[in-house]
Amino acid sequence: MSAESLIADLKSLAEFGRRAEGGWYRPAYSEIERAAHDWLAGRMGAAGLDVRLDGAGNLIGRLGATESQADTAALLVGSHIDTVPGGGWLDGAFGVMAGLDVARRLSASNAPRRRPFEVVAFRDEEGRFGPLTGSRAMTGGLDPATVPDLQDATGQRLAALLPGMGLTVEGFAGARRSARDIAGYVEIHIEQGPVLAAQGARIGVVTAIVGQARFALRFVGRPDHAGTTPMTLRADAFAAAAEFAVAFRRAVLERGEGVAVGTIGIVQVEPGAGNVVPGETRLRAEIRDVDGTRLAALAAEVPRLAAVAARAVGVAAEVETLHRTAPAPMNEALATMIEDAARQRNLAAIRLPSGAGHDAQNFAALVPTAMIFVPSVGGRSHCPEETTDEADLAAGVDVLEAVVRRLLAR
Ligand code: HGY
Ligand code: MN
Ligand code: MN
Repeated sequence: MSAESLIADLKSLAEFGRRAEGGWYRPAYSEIERAAHDWLAGRMGAAGLDVRLDGAGNLIGRLGATESQADTAALLVGSHIDTVPGGGWLDGAFGVMAGLDVARRLSASNAPRRRPFEVVAFRDEEGRFGPLTGSRAMTGGLDPATVPDLQDATGQRLAALLPGMGLTVEGFAGARRSARDIAGYVEIHIEQGPVLAAQGARIGVVTAIVGQARFALRFVGRPDHAGTTPMTLRADAFAAAAEFAVAFRRAVLERGEGVAVGTIGIVQVEPGAGNVVPGETRLRAEIRDVDGTRLAALAAEVPRLAAVAARAVGVAAEVETLHRTAPAPMNEALATMIEDAARQRNLAAIRLPSGAGHDAQNFAALVPTAMIFVPSVGGRSHCPEETTDEADLAAGVDVLEAVVRRLLAR
């Protein structure tokens, strides 16, 4: 089937948040992302879907069942349209627009739908306010009582943004759905890594999504004059953070058995002047692993490594665990269905874990859940260079359509 309308939608969505310096930035719950959601709501309506925004700001387009004795539990597909700073045009966007394209194809055909079909754009998958905010709200992984305190790394509180989005703190609890309401969840996504291309595969069948441990670390020393303070009298908060960073990386390399990954992606130094010994340094660190036991062992190391680094430099260290998610295995029967669909289209398919987190991981423990990957050119993602050949986007949406048709017919 032609993917012309899908590609056109992706190019239209790419007009929201394009940065002059390259890449895209649609922060969750920002005016830019809201404008993109408003555009998407229009596209869903034009495709004949009933459109609603849930209490967490997840945008849901719904096609009803065609059979009178329909099961009320809906089949969900979806992903996200928020991005990381300087991200690419397909991360998340492909999953949402492919789902909408499948909805259009279902409407245009007489394919039986024994249950409703929903396309969802989840809010804040990239974790501006905490990873996978929208899909955690829908699946019960987000305690509504914590919403008033959610803030991003700059201190911007989510609660202050919600009224501008037509949302309320109190409304978040209403996003929660019972597993009885959902028959299954399938997410198609770009691989964001090099494995499919390296193995000449067109389709990836995800076996599991990595678990994650995310930390906020704070090293507190003493700001001093950079010229007059002898090295032995300093309480240099950045020096301690740097010692921690080296030890953290070494621990993941030595104990991660070539699978675990560890990243320190945010470093904030105060007061941030070249002639002042840093008085405070704040880090965001995360560890990911598809093996839950190894992940827990590495996560347990973080406070100890921080204390050793702080003591070595003579500063204080604080470690806060921001988030822990266990690895999420995907559903075997759905994985086999994806392989069947790829085989029927002569598309080479391989099984692989996902090193990226996805909204799918919040559904895996509740309902049958699966993920389909398409190759990323050069294995690149979360950068302006992120892209996928149009032929691979087209092949992916065909496989998604085949799996959805089978699941709606039974
Ligand atoms: O961080 C991730 O893995 C995803 O891109 N949110
Ligand atoms: Mn994504
Ligand atoms: Mn991402």
